[in-house]
Amino acid sequence: MAPHRGIVLGLETSCDETAAAVVRDGREVLSNVVRSQVAAHRPHGGVVPEIAARRHVEALPEVLAEAVRRAGIRWDEIAMVAATRGPGLAGALLAGWSAAKGLALRLGRPLCAVHHLEAHFASVFLNPATPPLEQCLPLATLIVSGGHTSLFVSESADAWRPLGRTIDDAAGEALDKGAKLLGLAYPGGPEIERLARGADSPTASFPEGRVREHSAALDGLEPSCCFSFSGLKTALQRRVLSAPDMDSTARAKLAADYQESVCEALVRRCDRALDLARCLAVGGGVSVNARLRERLAALCDRRGARLLLALPEHCGDNAAMVAAAAAMGRGVRDPAARALDIDPNWPMDPREPSEMPCRST
Ligand code: KG4
Ligand code: ZN
Repeated sequence: MAPHRGIVLGLETSCDETAAAVVRDGREVLSNVVRSQVAAHRPHGGVVPEIAARRHVEALPEVLAEAVRRAGIRWDEIAMVAATRGPGLAGALLAGWSAAKGLALRLGRPLCAVHHLEAHFASVFLNPATPPLEQCLPLATLIVSGGHTSLFVSESADAWRPLGRTIDDAAGEALDKGAKLLGLAYPGGPEIERLARGADSPTASFPEGRVREHSAALDGLEPSCCFSFSGLKTALQRRVLSAPDMDSTARAKLAADYQESVCEALVRRCDRALDLARCLAVGGGVSVNARLRERLAALCDRRGARLLLALPEHCGDNAAMVAAAAAMGRGVRDPAARALDIDPNWPMDPREPSEMPCRST
Protein backbone atom coordinates (compact mmCIF):
# COMPACT_ATOMS: atom_id res chain seq x y z
CA MET A 1 0.00 0.00 0.00
CA ALA A 2 1.20 3.52 -0.76
CA PRO A 3 2.60 5.65 2.07
CA HIS A 4 0.18 8.20 3.44
CA ARG A 5 1.07 11.85 3.87
CA GLY A 6 -0.85 14.04 6.26
CA ILE A 7 -2.01 13.75 9.84
CA VAL A 8 -2.84 10.30 11.24
CA LEU A 9 -4.50 9.76 14.60
CA GLY A 10 -3.37 6.44 16.10
CA LEU A 11 -5.00 4.37 18.84
CA GLU A 12 -3.51 1.43 20.74
CA THR A 13 -5.36 -0.69 23.32
CA SER A 14 -4.13 -4.25 22.73
CA CYS A 15 -3.00 -4.84 26.31
CA ASP A 16 -2.71 -2.57 29.33
CA GLU A 17 -1.81 0.84 27.92
CA THR A 18 -4.52 3.19 26.67
CA ALA A 19 -2.73 5.22 24.02
CA ALA A 20 -3.55 7.85 21.40
CA ALA A 21 -1.11 9.81 19.24
CA VAL A 22 -0.98 12.26 16.37
CA VAL A 23 1.72 11.77 13.73
CA ARG A 24 2.38 13.95 10.67
CA ASP A 25 3.70 12.43 7.42
CA GLY A 26 4.58 9.17 9.15
CA ARG A 27 7.58 10.49 11.09
CA GLU A 28 6.77 13.67 12.97
CA VAL A 29 5.18 12.86 16.33
CA LEU A 30 2.93 15.78 17.30
CA SER A 31 1.63 14.07 20.43
CA ASN A 32 1.98 10.66 22.07
CA VAL A 33 -0.27 10.06 25.08
CA VAL A 34 0.10 6.77 26.95
CA ARG A 35 -2.00 6.07 30.01
CA SER A 36 -0.61 3.02 31.75
CA GLN A 37 -2.83 0.67 33.72
CA VAL A 38 0.12 -0.98 35.46
CA ALA A 39 -0.95 0.16 38.93
CA ALA A 40 -4.35 -1.50 38.50
CA HIS A 41 -2.85 -4.82 37.41
CA ARG A 42 0.19 -4.93 39.70
CA PRO A 43 -1.66 -6.35 42.75
CA HIS A 44 -2.68 -9.30 40.54
CA GLY A 45 0.90 -9.96 39.34
CA GLY A 46 -0.07 -9.60 35.67
CA VAL A 47 -2.69 -8.20 33.32
CA VAL A 48 -6.32 -9.00 34.16
CA PRO A 49 -8.24 -8.87 30.82
CA GLU A 50 -11.54 -7.64 32.29
CA ILE A 51 -9.86 -4.81 34.18
CA ALA A 52 -7.88 -3.85 31.04
CA ALA A 53 -11.00 -3.63 28.86
CA ARG A 54 -12.95 -1.55 31.40
CA ARG A 55 -10.07 0.83 31.98
CA HIS A 56 -9.66 1.39 28.22
CA VAL A 57 -13.33 2.28 27.86
CA GLU A 58 -13.06 4.71 30.78
CA ALA A 59 -9.81 6.33 29.67
CA LEU A 60 -10.27 6.57 25.90
CA PRO A 61 -12.33 9.79 25.63
CA GLU A 62 -9.84 11.70 27.76
CA VAL A 63 -6.74 10.17 26.19
CA LEU A 64 -8.02 10.93 22.67
CA ALA A 65 -8.89 14.52 23.53
CA GLU A 66 -5.50 15.00 25.18
CA ALA A 67 -3.65 13.66 22.11
CA VAL A 68 -5.47 16.12 19.83
CA ARG A 69 -5.03 19.01 22.27
CA ARG A 70 -1.31 18.38 22.77
CA ALA A 71 -0.78 18.07 19.01
CA GLY A 72 -2.29 21.53 18.61
CA ILE A 73 -4.53 20.45 15.75
CA ARG A 74 -8.26 20.61 15.03
CA TRP A 75 -10.20 17.35 14.75
CA ASP A 76 -10.97 18.09 11.10
CA GLU A 77 -7.25 18.20 10.29
CA ILE A 78 -7.02 14.44 10.91
CA ALA A 79 -6.66 12.71 7.53
CA MET A 80 -6.85 9.09 8.72
CA VAL A 81 -7.67 7.14 11.89
CA ALA A 82 -5.54 4.05 12.63
CA ALA A 83 -5.95 1.52 15.43
CA THR A 84 -4.62 -1.83 16.54
CA ARG A 85 -6.93 -4.58 15.34
CA GLY A 86 -4.90 -7.47 16.80
CA PRO A 87 -3.31 -9.51 18.12
CA GLY A 88 -4.12 -8.79 21.75
CA LEU A 89 -6.70 -9.20 24.49
CA ALA A 90 -10.18 -9.33 22.93
CA GLY A 91 -11.97 -6.90 25.24
CA ALA A 92 -9.05 -4.48 25.22
CA LEU A 93 -8.81 -4.48 21.41
CA LEU A 94 -12.56 -4.07 21.07
CA ALA A 95 -12.50 -0.88 23.14
CA GLY A 96 -9.93 0.84 20.90
CA TRP A 97 -11.09 -0.57 17.58
CA SER A 98 -14.72 0.45 18.21
CA ALA A 99 -13.62 3.95 19.22
CA ALA A 100 -11.52 4.24 16.05
CA LYS A 101 -14.39 3.03 13.86
CA GLY A 102 -16.78 5.52 15.42
CA LEU A 103 -14.30 8.36 15.14
CA ALA A 104 -13.49 7.63 11.47
CA LEU A 105 -17.20 7.58 10.69
CA ARG A 106 -17.86 10.81 12.59
CA LEU A 107 -14.92 12.61 10.93
CA GLY A 108 -15.64 11.12 7.50
CA ARG A 109 -12.04 9.91 7.24
CA PRO A 110 -10.57 6.53 6.24
CA LEU A 111 -9.80 3.92 8.89
CA CYS A 112 -6.71 1.69 8.98
CA ALA A 113 -6.43 -1.65 10.83
CA VAL A 114 -2.88 -2.09 12.11
CA HIS A 115 -1.14 -5.28 13.25
CA HIS A 116 0.56 -4.88 16.63
CA LEU A 117 3.91 -6.28 15.41
CA GLU A 118 3.93 -4.06 12.34
CA ALA A 119 3.38 -1.13 14.69
CA HIS A 120 6.42 -2.13 16.78
CA PHE A 121 8.37 -2.42 13.49
CA ALA A 122 7.25 1.08 12.48
CA SER A 123 8.36 2.49 15.86
CA VAL A 124 11.99 2.22 14.74
CA PHE A 125 11.27 4.67 11.87
CA LEU A 126 9.99 7.28 14.32
CA ASN A 127 13.58 7.67 15.51
CA PRO A 128 15.07 10.66 13.62
CA ALA A 129 18.38 8.74 13.47
CA THR A 130 16.79 5.94 11.40
CA PRO A 131 17.13 6.39 7.62
CA PRO A 132 14.11 5.73 5.38
CA LEU A 133 13.31 2.03 5.06
CA GLU A 134 14.55 1.83 1.45
CA GLN A 135 18.06 2.71 2.66
CA CYS A 136 18.07 -0.02 5.34
CA LEU A 137 17.56 -3.02 3.06
CA PRO A 138 18.15 -5.89 3.40
CA LEU A 139 16.89 -5.47 6.94
CA ALA A 140 16.59 -7.97 9.80
CA THR A 141 14.01 -7.08 12.47
CA LEU A 142 13.67 -8.37 16.02
CA ILE A 143 10.44 -7.58 17.86
CA VAL A 144 10.88 -8.41 21.52
CA SER A 145 8.07 -7.72 23.95
CA GLY A 146 5.94 -9.26 26.65
CA GLY A 147 4.01 -11.38 24.18
CA HIS A 148 6.27 -11.67 21.15
CA THR A 149 9.77 -12.60 20.23
CA SER A 150 9.97 -12.73 16.44
CA LEU A 151 12.64 -12.28 13.80
CA PHE A 152 11.90 -11.15 10.26
CA VAL A 153 13.93 -10.23 7.23
CA SER A 154 12.95 -7.70 4.57
CA GLU A 155 14.60 -7.59 1.16
CA SER A 156 12.24 -4.92 -0.18
CA ALA A 157 10.26 -2.10 1.42
CA ASP A 158 6.86 -3.77 1.29
CA ALA A 159 7.78 -7.41 1.86
CA TRP A 160 9.23 -9.39 4.70
CA ARG A 161 9.55 -13.03 5.56
CA PRO A 162 9.57 -14.63 9.00
CA LEU A 163 12.85 -16.18 10.12
CA GLY A 164 12.09 -17.32 13.64
CA ARG A 165 9.92 -16.82 16.69
CA THR A 166 9.59 -18.16 20.19
CA ILE A 167 8.06 -21.59 20.50
CA ASP A 168 6.91 -20.93 24.08
CA ASP A 169 7.39 -17.84 26.29
CA ALA A 170 8.33 -14.43 24.91
CA ALA A 171 11.51 -12.79 26.22
CA GLY A 172 9.53 -10.18 28.17
CA GLU A 173 7.37 -12.92 29.61
CA ALA A 174 10.51 -14.75 30.77
CA LEU A 175 11.66 -11.55 32.50
CA ASP A 176 8.22 -10.96 34.05
CA LYS A 177 8.01 -14.54 35.35
CA GLY A 178 11.62 -14.45 36.54
CA ALA A 179 10.96 -11.22 38.43
CA LYS A 180 8.03 -12.83 40.19
CA LEU A 181 10.30 -15.67 41.36
CA LEU A 182 12.77 -13.09 42.66
CA GLY A 183 9.98 -11.36 44.59
CA LEU A 184 9.95 -8.31 42.30
CA ALA A 185 6.94 -6.34 41.09
CA TYR A 186 5.13 -6.52 37.73
CA PRO A 187 6.21 -5.72 35.02
CA GLY A 188 9.41 -7.57 35.74
CA GLY A 189 11.71 -6.42 32.91
CA PRO A 190 12.53 -2.99 34.38
CA GLU A 191 12.70 -4.45 37.92
CA ILE A 192 15.25 -7.08 36.87
CA GLU A 193 17.23 -4.43 35.01
CA ARG A 194 17.32 -2.23 38.13
CA LEU A 195 18.38 -5.11 40.41
CA ALA A 196 20.98 -6.33 37.88
CA ARG A 197 22.68 -2.93 37.89
CA GLY A 198 24.02 -3.72 41.36
CA ALA A 199 26.03 -6.72 40.10
CA ASP A 200 29.26 -6.76 38.19
CA SER A 201 30.36 -9.08 35.39
CA PRO A 202 27.08 -10.76 34.49
CA THR A 203 27.39 -14.19 32.91
CA ALA A 204 24.82 -15.99 30.80
CA SER A 205 24.89 -18.86 33.28
CA PHE A 206 21.37 -20.15 32.60
CA PRO A 207 20.92 -22.96 30.08
CA GLU A 208 19.95 -21.62 26.68
CA GLY A 209 16.72 -23.01 25.27
CA ARG A 210 17.47 -24.25 21.77
CA VAL A 211 15.13 -25.31 19.02
CA ARG A 212 17.02 -28.02 17.21
CA GLU A 213 14.46 -29.81 15.12
CA HIS A 214 12.59 -28.83 12.01
CA SER A 215 9.05 -29.66 13.11
CA ALA A 216 5.63 -29.23 11.56
CA ALA A 217 4.90 -26.57 14.21
CA LEU A 218 7.74 -24.38 12.91
CA ASP A 219 6.27 -24.54 9.42
CA GLY A 220 9.42 -23.74 7.55
CA LEU A 221 11.00 -21.33 10.05
CA GLU A 222 14.70 -21.77 10.67
CA PRO A 223 15.11 -23.65 14.02
CA SER A 224 18.41 -21.90 14.77
CA CYS A 225 16.57 -18.55 14.55
CA CYS A 226 13.76 -19.68 16.88
CA PHE A 227 13.67 -19.06 20.63
CA SER A 228 12.66 -21.04 23.69
CA PHE A 229 12.53 -19.24 27.03
CA SER A 230 10.27 -21.46 29.12
CA GLY A 231 13.16 -23.48 30.61
CA LEU A 232 14.82 -20.34 31.98
CA LYS A 233 12.28 -19.66 34.70
CA THR A 234 12.36 -23.31 35.84
CA ALA A 235 16.14 -23.06 36.17
CA LEU A 236 15.76 -19.80 38.10
CA GLN A 237 13.15 -21.32 40.37
CA ARG A 238 15.56 -24.13 41.22
CA ARG A 239 18.32 -21.65 42.06
CA VAL A 240 16.01 -19.52 44.19
CA LEU A 241 14.73 -22.55 46.12
CA SER A 242 18.24 -23.91 46.69
CA ALA A 243 19.42 -20.64 48.30
CA PRO A 244 16.68 -19.44 50.67
CA ASP A 245 19.07 -17.16 52.59
CA MET A 246 20.47 -15.35 49.57
CA ASP A 247 21.93 -11.94 50.45
CA SER A 248 21.33 -8.84 48.33
CA THR A 249 24.62 -9.23 46.41
CA ALA A 250 23.77 -12.82 45.44
CA ARG A 251 20.25 -11.77 44.45
CA ALA A 252 21.57 -8.97 42.23
CA LYS A 253 24.02 -11.39 40.60
CA LEU A 254 21.22 -13.88 39.97
CA ALA A 255 19.08 -11.16 38.32
CA ALA A 256 22.04 -10.00 36.22
CA ASP A 257 22.82 -13.54 35.05
CA TYR A 258 19.17 -14.16 34.23
CA GLN A 259 18.95 -10.94 32.20
CA GLU A 260 22.26 -11.79 30.51
CA SER A 261 20.95 -15.22 29.51
CA VAL A 262 17.88 -13.64 27.88
CA CYS A 263 20.14 -11.12 26.08
CA GLU A 264 22.51 -13.86 24.96
CA ALA A 265 19.69 -15.86 23.33
CA LEU A 266 18.42 -12.74 21.52
CA VAL A 267 21.86 -11.60 20.35
CA ARG A 268 22.81 -15.07 19.09
CA ARG A 269 19.72 -15.24 16.84
CA CYS A 270 20.28 -11.68 15.61
CA ASP A 271 23.83 -12.69 14.71
CA ARG A 272 22.40 -15.43 12.47
CA ALA A 273 19.85 -13.06 10.95
CA LEU A 274 22.68 -10.69 10.03
CA ASP A 275 23.97 -13.30 7.57
CA LEU A 276 21.00 -12.11 5.48
CA ALA A 277 20.93 -8.39 6.22
CA ARG A 278 23.12 -5.31 6.67
CA CYS A 279 20.85 -3.49 9.13
CA LEU A 280 19.18 -4.72 12.30
CA ALA A 281 16.00 -3.07 13.61
CA VAL A 282 14.89 -3.85 17.15
CA GLY A 283 11.59 -2.81 18.72
CA GLY A 284 9.17 -3.82 21.49
CA GLY A 285 9.04 -3.25 25.24
CA VAL A 286 12.17 -5.29 26.05
CA SER A 287 14.27 -3.32 23.53
CA VAL A 288 14.48 -0.40 25.98
CA ASN A 289 16.75 -2.58 28.16
CA ALA A 290 20.18 -0.96 28.40
CA ARG A 291 22.12 -4.22 28.63
CA LEU A 292 20.34 -5.60 25.55
CA ARG A 293 21.11 -2.38 23.66
CA GLU A 294 24.77 -2.61 24.67
CA ARG A 295 25.00 -6.23 23.51
CA LEU A 296 23.22 -5.48 20.21
CA ALA A 297 25.51 -2.52 19.55
CA ALA A 298 28.56 -4.73 20.12
CA LEU A 299 27.12 -7.36 17.77
CA CYS A 300 26.45 -4.83 15.00
CA ASP A 301 29.92 -3.35 15.46
CA ARG A 302 31.48 -6.77 15.03
CA ARG A 303 29.31 -7.61 12.01
CA GLY A 304 29.71 -4.21 10.35
CA ALA A 305 25.94 -3.80 10.45
CA ARG A 306 23.85 -0.76 11.31
CA LEU A 307 21.69 -0.98 14.43
CA LEU A 308 18.30 0.75 14.30
CA LEU A 309 16.49 1.24 17.59
CA ALA A 310 13.24 2.89 18.57
CA LEU A 311 13.44 5.88 20.91
CA PRO A 312 12.86 4.71 24.52
CA GLU A 313 9.38 6.31 24.59
CA HIS A 314 8.37 4.29 21.53
CA CYS A 315 9.60 0.85 22.73
CA GLY A 316 6.66 -0.08 24.95
CA ASP A 317 3.11 -0.04 23.63
CA ASN A 318 2.14 3.38 22.26
CA ALA A 319 -0.07 4.79 19.54
CA ALA A 320 2.54 6.83 17.65
CA MET A 321 3.85 3.56 16.23
CA VAL A 322 0.32 2.59 15.14
CA ALA A 323 -0.09 5.88 13.25
CA ALA A 324 3.41 5.47 11.77
CA ALA A 325 2.63 1.93 10.55
CA ALA A 326 -0.55 3.16 8.86
CA ALA A 327 1.35 6.05 7.25
CA MET A 328 4.03 3.63 6.00
CA GLY A 329 1.33 1.80 4.09
CA ARG A 330 1.04 -1.16 6.48
CA GLY A 331 -2.25 -2.62 7.66
CA VAL A 332 -5.65 -2.80 6.02
CA ARG A 333 -7.18 0.51 4.92
CA ASP A 334 -10.70 1.51 4.03
CA PRO A 335 -12.93 0.60 2.31
CA ALA A 336 -11.97 -2.86 3.63
CA ALA A 337 -11.07 -1.79 7.18
CA ARG A 338 -14.52 -0.64 8.34
CA ALA A 339 -15.94 -4.10 7.64
CA LEU A 340 -13.36 -5.77 9.88
CA ASP A 341 -13.82 -6.86 13.46
CA ILE A 342 -10.96 -7.18 15.93
CA ASP A 343 -8.82 -10.32 15.65
CA PRO A 344 -7.17 -11.26 18.95
CA ASN A 345 -5.05 -13.83 17.09
CA TRP A 346 -4.41 -11.89 13.88
CA PRO A 347 -1.33 -13.54 12.36
CA MET A 348 1.31 -11.28 10.81
CA ASP A 349 2.61 -14.27 8.98
CA PRO A 350 -0.47 -16.09 7.70
CA ARG A 351 1.25 -19.35 8.68
CA GLU A 352 1.82 -18.23 12.26
CA PRO A 353 -0.25 -20.08 14.85
CA SER A 354 -2.22 -17.99 17.34
CA GLU A 355 0.05 -15.97 19.54
CA MET A 356 -1.08 -13.48 22.13
CA PRO A 357 0.93 -10.28 22.55
CA CYS A 358 -0.16 -9.93 26.09
CA ARG A 359 -0.57 -12.55 28.72
CA SER A 360 -3.01 -12.40 31.54
CA THR A 361 -2.62 -13.74 35.05
O1 KG4 B 1 5.81 -3.97 23.96
P1 KG4 B 1 5.26 -4.05 25.34
O2 KG4 B 1 4.97 -2.77 26.07
O3 KG4 B 1 3.93 -4.89 25.38
C1 KG4 B 1 3.72 -6.06 24.64
O4 KG4 B 1 3.39 -5.94 23.44
O5 KG4 B 1 3.96 -7.14 25.24
O6 KG4 B 1 6.30 -4.92 26.19
C2 KG4 B 1 6.12 -5.20 27.55
C3 KG4 B 1 7.29 -6.03 28.03
C4 KG4 B 1 7.11 -6.57 29.45
O7 KG4 B 1 7.40 -7.95 29.45
C5 KG4 B 1 8.15 -5.78 30.24
O8 KG4 B 1 8.66 -6.49 31.36
C6 KG4 B 1 9.23 -5.55 29.20
O9 KG4 B 1 8.50 -5.24 28.03
N1 KG4 B 1 10.10 -4.44 29.58
C7 KG4 B 1 11.43 -4.56 29.81
C8 KG4 B 1 11.90 -3.29 30.22
N2 KG4 B 1 10.82 -2.43 30.23
C9 KG4 B 1 9.73 -3.15 29.82
N3 KG4 B 1 12.25 -5.61 29.71
C10 KG4 B 1 13.55 -5.43 30.01
N4 KG4 B 1 14.07 -4.26 30.43
C11 KG4 B 1 13.28 -3.17 30.55
N5 KG4 B 1 13.80 -2.02 30.97
ZN1 ZN C 1 3.64 -4.49 22.22
